[in-house]
Amino acid sequence: MCGIIGVIGERNATPVLMEGLKRLEYRGYDSAGIALAWRDELVVVRALGKLVNLERALTVEPRIGFVGIGHTRWATHGAPTERNAHPHCSANVAVVHNGIIENHPELKAELLSEGVEFTSETDTEVIPHLIERELRREGDPEVAVRRVLQRLEGAFALGILLRGHDEVLYAARRGSPLLIGLGEGENFIASDATPLVPYTRRMVYLNDNDFAILTRDGVRLTDFQGSPVVREVKYSQVSADLTDKWPYRHYMQKEIFEQPTAIGETLKQLIRPMERVVALEALTSVISLGEVSAVSIIACGTSWHAGLVARYWIEQLARIPTSVEIASEYRYREPPLAPGGITVVISQSGETADTLAALRYAKGHGQKVVAIVNVAESSIARAADVVLLTQAGPEIGVASTKAFTTQLVVLAVLALGLGRARGEITEAVEKEHVEQLVRLPGRIERVLARDREIQEIAAKFLHARGFLFLGRGSSFPIALEGALKLKEISYIHAEGYAAGEMKHGPIALIDEELPVVVVAPRDRLFDKVLSNLEEARARGGRLVVVTNTEVVADWPLVDDCISVGECEEFTAPMLTVVPLQLLAYHIAVLKGTDVDQPRNLAKSVTVE
Ligand code: AGP
Repeated sequence: MCGIIGVIGERNATPVLMEGLKRLEYRGYDSAGIALAWRDELVVVRALGKLVNLERALTVEPRIGFVGIGHTRWATHGAPTERNAHPHCSANVAVVHNGIIENHPELKAELLSEGVEFTSETDTEVIPHLIERELRREGDPEVAVRRVLQRLEGAFALGILLRGHDEVLYAARRGSPLLIGLGEGENFIASDATPLVPYTRRMVYLNDNDFAILTRDGVRLTDFQGSPVVREVKYSQVSADLTDKWPYRHYMQKEIFEQPTAIGETLKQLIRPMERVVALEALTSVISLGEVSAVSIIACGTSWHAGLVARYWIEQLARIPTSVEIASEYRYREPPLAPGGITVVISQSGETADTLAALRYAKGHGQKVVAIVNVAESSIARAADVVLLTQAGPEIGVASTKAFTTQLVVLAVLALGLGRARGEITEAVEKEHVEQLVRLPGRIERVLARDREIQEIAAKFLHARGFLFLGRGSSFPIALEGALKLKEISYIHAEGYAAGEMKHGPIALIDEELPVVVVAPRDRLFDKVLSNLEEARARGGRLVVVTNTEVVADWPLVDDCISVGECEEFTAPMLTVVPLQLLAYHIAVLKGTDVDQPRNLAKSVTVE
């Protein structure tokens, strides 16, 4: 979950590195640093905490160079301190790294036994010292670097600079994303395309075990043994406009309010609007939907919640057995997979290591894999058999919002497609459901118009010691999502629970201090949920109900009611989650936490 950038060219590298790190800061922000090679100098500047601290250091003492590497860190090995910040160096080598070197203990012991002195607690620091040693033995820098790459185990994306070699920048990839940007008289490396599009849209996505030798005039690729490698040059479509959150205060707020547009854009590619039917040609050209015997959905975090909602739709509309798995569990459980089944992986970033590993397991066991991602050029997109893109646009806030609701829309269309292909639903039912999806942007606008009301509710619960979120059926995953949103940006403990489970334990938590947020749209389980409301109220719980009916609004039991207005059971999840996003956002703002970059988190979890 770190961000890497590098450049070699004719312009001063420092501003390129710093602007690039700003665009990568969402990947981790415990510390940051750059290294520049110029003639016989190898200059390294690092700072603890946010990028602004590194900017301050470089303002005090400006640095110039024409080849450089930069890094913004999410700590894996070693506390977030200045001495653990990247780049890590030996006397003549500087390295930036995203990933985990699994065999670093053995490598470090070997180097310590030869008298090497370490200055950090990181796994990364073994790399410059190993290269330094090979340079002394070998002399040829390219051979020396490749020899070290052959010894590393684990996941790594690397940028490497050598003192006295300011005409070359080395890069390597195994298990963590890294790409090359091809410019005119300049070339780049980066963890993703966003920092490079201001300079070039010609990208080369490195595969595992690729080694890149960049000069101002060109890029050469080999494997770790030195055999030439050829990779396709792709034209990146990533939006260059990432830095503008105006008129919103935070990216998260902007992205919550972008959901109507994002859902509209996502739907455009998935339905035929005039006929009100789904359009899944990208899928049906690879998978015969009518023959799908089982669906395994695999994801992490918020994306996993989207999968949990989809299970209700696929089982109800297509009558297909559907499992929903947490990727980090699935990949080590190594489950048997039903022949004729498909695997659906969901990932906003398309780079989540556990989800990518799960995808590879499923493919390795003969499954066709469908990826629902928000980044077309991501590792997961490139590894899948079929890609269904969410058109949410870049999501910068660490807390996922518009990606979640657009994932739900894609999954809803997939469920309808499966149901039609198997003859479980008629075209009339399909049209009816597509019509409900088409109405979503306007309906969400209506919910967003209640922002002020939700802000006032947030102020009531600012000092709560914890929250309970409850829901039944497809509202249960929405309760889980509401709890995750709140805890990850406000740092208040929150737990999502199936409302029917209350009496099996969590009801013991309820007292006058505990806010209980209940997701209760008028659906087939509404009356059951009302009983749960009474159980909670009878024990003094402070009830906040999110519903789509007014019947609860004037009910004395309820402290606060947020109605999302008219909606059917099918689209209730996309609507009832919006007040929960806003509730979490406003509580976090009132608490003064860093809404877009919450502590300990990163936007893309590219390590396991
Ligand atoms: C959601 O708000 C979190 N940021 C996190 O749970 C996230 O959903 C999870 O890390 C999965 O990320 P992905 O969708 O990019 O794979």
